[in-house]
Amino acid sequence: MPDVYEKVAIVDPSPGKGTSWVAAGMLAAVTEAYYGEELELHLNMAAANLWKSFAETLSEKSGIDIGYRQVGTLVVAGGNDDRSYIRELYDYQTSLKLNVEWLSASEVRELVPQLAPSVRGAMLAADDYQVDPRLVVKALTQIITAKGYSLLPTRATSVISDSKGNSRGSAGNSFRIILEAGNDLHADKIIVCTGPWISQLNGLPRFVSSAVRPVKGEIVRLAAFDSSLLPAHTIRGITNGRSIYMVPRADGTLVIGATMEEKGFDTAVRSGAVFDLLRDARALLPITAELSFQETIAGLRPATPDNGPIVGSIDESGGLIVAAGHYRNGVLLAPITAVAVNALIQSDEKGVPQEVIPFSPSRLERIA
Ligand code: GLY
Repeated sequence: MPDVYEKVAIVDPSPGKGTSWVAAGMLAAVTEAYYGEELELHLNMAAANLWKSFAETLSEKSGIDIGYRQVGTLVVAGGNDDRSYIRELYDYQTSLKLNVEWLSASEVRELVPQLAPSVRGAMLAADDYQVDPRLVVKALTQIITAKGYSLLPTRATSVISDSKGNSRGSAGNSFRIILEAGNDLHADKIIVCTGPWISQLNGLPRFVSSAVRPVKGEIVRLAAFDSSLLPAHTIRGITNGRSIYMVPRADGTLVIGATMEEKGFDTAVRSGAVFDLLRDARALLPITAELSFQETIAGLRPATPDNGPIVGSIDESGGLIVAAGHYRNGVLLAPITAVAVNALIQSDEKGVPQEVIPFSPSRLERIA
C-alpha cells in the first residue's frame, strides 16, 4: 500500500445515507446523453467501461454481491408524441455512433411482454446496465473499515489552509478541518466530496462552493413476491411528455423514479410526486399496480451550471481536491472519479483520465 494512504479519515454525518442511498443505480451513459453534452457523454462512456472491473473488485474484496446487472435499458414511448421525441433522441444518439437500436411496438412487446399494449415503440440501449447503490455503499464501507480507515460520523464545517508546510516538513500546505463534533483534524490532503452540501462547508473558494445546487428527486420502491414477474431490462419511458424510469432488482424490488424539483434542501416526499410516478409507471408497465409498496424517499442531486461534475484540485499545493457535482450520474461516475482523485492525491497529473480534464474546477471561474 503506498505510504500516502496510511492514515485516512472519512467524515460523514450519516455514512452512505445521502444521495447514493436514494439513487436507483442506473449506469446510463447512453440514455443520459442529451443534446450538446458531448463532453459529459465521453466522460460517462469512459466511466461505464470501468464498471465491470470496479464491480468485480468490490464484490471480491467485500464478499458482497453489489447487484451489477449487465442487462440493457429500453426507452419506451407511451404515445405518438412521446415516440417522435424518443425517435429524435435515437437519431441524435445514432449520429454519435452510440450503441442504440430502434424497436417497433411489436418488437419491444415481444422482448418485454410485461409492457402495456399501448406502448408505441422503443429505443434499446443494450450497454446501459445497473448496480445497487445501497450494496455498493455497504461493500465500500466494509472495505474501508477492514483497511483500518476511520469513519467519523460527524459533519465537517470548515477547511482552513496552513501554508507553512505539510506535516512531513516538506513544501506544500497542510489543512485543518473543523468538525461539528468539536475536535479538529489535520491533513496534508483533503478530498471534498460533499455532494449537494458543498455550500455548507466553509473555507472553499466561492466559485466552487456556489456552483453546486440541490435538485430534489423522489423515488418509489415496490416489491414483487416473484422477481420473474418483473422485466429484466431497466425500463425508461416517456408518457404524456413526462419521463420515468423503473429499475428491476434481482430480489424483486422495482425502483421507480424520479422527479426533478428545484426546492433547495427540502427532502419531504410529496404525495403528488408519488401519484405521478405510480400513474406513469402503470401506464407503461401495468404489473406495477399489483406490486407491494415498500418505500418512498427523496434525495438531492448535486447539480452544476453545465451539468458536469467538478473534479480537480483547487489550491496551489494540489492538496485540496474537489470531487463533487456529479448531478444525475454519481453512481456511474464513481470509478472514474476514484481514478482521477487517486492520481491527484499522488500529484500524478498524467494519471487523471483525459475525459475528466474538461471537468476541472477552474472552468467554473469562467462560467460563474
Ligand atoms: N440518474 C437518475 C436520476 O438522477 O434521477
